[in-house]
Amino acid sequence: MNKVIKLHLHDRYPELGKGPVPVEPYISTAYYDKEQARIFKKTWLHVGRVEEIPAAGDYFVKDLEACEASIIVVRDKQGAINAMHNVCSHRMNQIVYEKRGQARKFFCKFHGWAYDLQGNLTGVPEEGSFFDLDKCDHGLSRVACEVWQGFIFINLDPAPELSLAQFLQPMFGDIEGYPFDKITTGFQWTTVVNCNWKLALDAFQEAYHVAYVHGHSIADAIDTAEDGAMPPLDALCGQFHRRLSIAGNPRSVYGNPNAVTAGGAEASKAIADSAVKKPIAAAALRAGMGAASYHFRKEDLPKGMNWTGHENWLFDINVVFPDFYLSLRPNYFQAYNFRPISQGKTLLEARVYYPEMKTAGGRFYLEYMKVALRDVLLEDLSTLERTQSAVQTGVKKEMILQDYELLVRHGAHVVDRIVNEETKA
Ligand code: FES
Ligand SMILES: [Fe+2]
Repeated sequence: MNKVIKLHLHDRYPELGKGPVPVEPYISTAYYDKEQARIFKKTWLHVGRVEEIPAAGDYFVKDLEACEASIIVVRDKQGAINAMHNVCSHRMNQIVYEKRGQARKFFCKFHGWAYDLQGNLTGVPEEGSFFDLDKCDHGLSRVACEVWQGFIFINLDPAPELSLAQFLQPMFGDIEGYPFDKITTGFQWTTVVNCNWKLALDAFQEAYHVAYVHGHSIADAIDTAEDGAMPPLDALCGQFHRRLSIAGNPRSVYGNPNAVTAGGAEASKAIADSAVKKPIAAAALRAGMGAASYHFRKEDLPKGMNWTGHENWLFDINVVFPDFYLSLRPNYFQAYNFRPISQGKTLLEARVYYPEMKTAGGRFYLEYMKVALRDVLLEDLSTLERTQSAVQTGVKKEMILQDYELLVRHGAHVVDRIVNEETKA
């Protein structure tokens, strides 16, 4: 058990206050309408990774209900990644019906108009029958698209106020250099949850729930103080984004982030306890240890990871405003999006990335983790729809937050600030 100093996280951010937080934003349709207009149609949104579209012509389509948009993201022949509305310039049929694929050009299935990979209109059947049609004026409508550390972001605002770098770097500049490009094997789950997007995200931005919701699965992975609490190492709140750093219990399979990749002493430490309490997890770790094709050495960590320098650091949660949860460990990471479909409906796209495994044992370990992490995710999802229904009864108007739920408070605060900002003339 590790001695952790009790922090008073809220004291550093007096502007956030310490009082109860209204729950109206979780159930109000009018509030959601403002979120759509002022946040989702104005902000950089993560839509995927560059590895998904490695070759010229590779594309995927993202339907973003909160933006009322369907966006084609495609790599062109020069290697650039472009985003454009999936709307034909003629009579507005959707250009692409498939969710992903490969194309030399995009042909509309209605009347055959053709567009290149940059969205330029290149072909119109019976062109001579149109009236003064200048093809240069009728390309697909482009959407701002930029890449950060291999993550593709789009912005529906025709003139984004901040570049993607300006948006991300104040909070996340010091995690640049994490080897996202070497940690590309993994698994994903997609599901619709009947709750507000903020309510879903909140369940992932505090560790207070771990001892209860995950009491029988991964609770022993988190470092526990003498009073049974699981205080975070630290929390950081910025203008938009926020971060939480968590210490682990190195004597557990999930709590020792180096066990599977480094093997050796780290793995023995993790197996010691687990062999009795979690024999299957321990067997999976034994099969997989040392099998990862890429091992992140501690000295290679970008300085923003484990920023408190704690020896038992387990992972950092990075919440990229508005709805992107990016949790980083030395050797695997989770990228979850909580995409609003409507006020009370959220699409969860959960992706977990590992380094490739060199041996059958390593692949067995990955299969084990896939199931283990799925169960953890199901535990996280178990409260959401019930909570949403309970909030909607209107019995309680406010929620009460403790010090370690600072990120929940900050999330509500940032959304509220932007929703209520005076619109510029
Ligand atoms: S709607 Fe696309 S070619 Fe007519
Ligand atoms: Fe959880």
